[in-house]
Amino acid sequence: MALENMRTLLDAAREGGYAVGAFNIVDYATFRGVMEAAEEERSPVIIQTSASSTVKFYGYDALVGLARALAGNSPVPVALHLDHCKDMDMLKGTIDAGWTSVMIDASTYPFEENVAMTKTVVGWAHPKGVSVEGELGSIKGVEDEIKVEERDAVLADPQKAAEFVERTGIDALAPAIGTAHGLYKGTPDIDFERLKKIVSLVDVPVVIHGGTGLSDDTFRKLISLGAAKINISTQLKLAYMQAFEDFKKENPGKADPIKVQKAIVAAVKDVVKRFMRVFGSSGKA
Ligand code: 13P
Repeated sequence: MALENMRTLLDAAREGGYAVGAFNIVDYATFRGVMEAAEEERSPVIIQTSASSTVKFYGYDALVGLARALAGNSPVPVALHLDHCKDMDMLKGTIDAGWTSVMIDASTYPFEENVAMTKTVVGWAHPKGVSVEGELGSIKGVEDEIKVEERDAVLADPQKAAEFVERTGIDALAPAIGTAHGLYKGTPDIDFERLKKIVSLVDVPVVIHGGTGLSDDTFRKLISLGAAKINISTQLKLAYMQAFEDFKKENPGKADPIKVQKAIVAAVKDVVKRFMRVFGSSGKA
């Protein structure tokens, strides 16, 4: 199966009442771990690439080559997605290079500019069959604490979300609802009512960022309210480093990078399979 547009995967998820996991890969081993999980679980999957780190480090051709080799002939549907990008050159570059989906994150700009930039990217992407995710409100890192009084300004306004989707023509919306990237310090303060309202007002799939550290119950609740894509990054990086450290502990003095890579593939695969079961995407491909 060739790499697919993300919208196809998410529309099926919305209809089926499950969510597709979007996993940030950083290299061959993580990519392979995610693919082995998806194929063993028979789950659709989104391979996500971080704009500011992974894509900058590898360049377009190396990542597209990796995607074609590892996912181009997969029996499960796979989308290659660019995560959080406000660099217009990179957005254009990845669309031209072979990504099947991109996220334009112009959420730090005023609303009108966010609309204009997002619309420009949709104009480049859609003629090439590439889907576009946009962001509204500000999805923070866990270190950026949101004070109660600024909550309304930071989280996505449901009416604005409907207007944003309508005016930009995006395929998926990431609204800020209180989740954050990285490891939560306490219990995340998620505005489920806001999510419910947004889902009722927009006619595109809704995306949840900051999946690492959310409980299974929280995932199930988000999905029952209509979330169709859930992003996981930090958890994979933790599994990666743990596998590396375990290998070193169990094989003192041994220098065998391929065995380390194999341990990382296995660790990532385990973590991803677990998420796929919780998200309900297992068996859906
Ligand atoms: P985590 O690192 O918290 O899993 O968030 C991932 C994410 O939302 C990527 O966009």
